[in-house]
Amino acid sequence: MKSLVSISDFKVEDYLNIIELAAQFEANSYRNLLKGRIISTLFFEPSTRTRLSFESAINRLGGNVIGFADISTTSSTKGESLHDTITMVAGYSDLIVMRHPLEGAAKYAAEISPVPIVNAGDGANQHPTQTLLDMYSIQKTQGKLDNLSIALIGDLKYGRTVHSLIMAMMHFAPHFHFIAPPELQLPKEYLQILNDKNIPYTLHDDMQEVIPEVDIVYMTRVQKERFSEPMEYERTKNLYVLRNSMLDGAKPTMRILHPLPRVNEINTDVDTSPHAYYFEQAHNGVFTRQAIISYLLDL
Ligand code: CP
Repeated sequence: MKSLVSISDFKVEDYLNIIELAAQFEANSYRNLLKGRIISTLFFEPSTRTRLSFESAINRLGGNVIGFADISTTSSTKGESLHDTITMVAGYSDLIVMRHPLEGAAKYAAEISPVPIVNAGDGANQHPTQTLLDMYSIQKTQGKLDNLSIALIGDLKYGRTVHSLIMAMMHFAPHFHFIAPPELQLPKEYLQILNDKNIPYTLHDDMQEVIPEVDIVYMTRVQKERFSEPMEYERTKNLYVLRNSMLDGAKPTMRILHPLPRVNEINTDVDTSPHAYYFEQAHNGVFTRQAIISYLLDL
């Protein structure tokens, strides 16, 4: 039985297999591989893309979905523990997709669950299925994963998609550029990993200076829900706003990714730019999540 808790649970070979499988699902999305199986989607934290793309993926594979999108409708509100919830739901389904606000919640669930757990985001820690769809999007737009220059911009401290993407892409000889206010820069433990592996990176506070250099601009939202101090959020929320006028010197092949949702950090005048790829990226989530489920269940 395999779970996907951290992007580091997978090796390079797994990343490439999932990307190849996702391409096959994009070419032929409706298949009955999950007929007779039940998948649970337990969202203890809000979601639009992750939950609905998982549910679209499951439906396209002929499976059945049970679950919840709002914990206020569950017995968690009566004090039921995560342990008991997972133990119950594992008896109702063949695989559990879960999002939880606490870092480590998915790891804990995987330790006690008799069915595979897929981490759909645990606090500020990891979002491995987002990373796999990001990698699929990078492969589709750049034709490769190797030797790319990647700018990550915004909330690099709390951004779980950033943390997972760095851990995966570090295997493909990247050059990273980290652009964030000092208080939202990438946590030291990630910089230490890159140092240990001699992976080049630069820290910036001006995003305009890196745009002409890079193949991928990965924008992120400043995550209001992670701040304990509201003033810190107010001070940082609009520091990095990407506008169409800033893209003049970009490489023609440069693409802008964003895990979404966005708030203000990408102006809507970017949406019609040939560099914008974030809505297609979100659509790629369906095929990538079909690939992840079929890979974990050996379908
Ligand atoms: N990218 C992402 O995780 O979006 P949702 O929060 O809408 O699932």
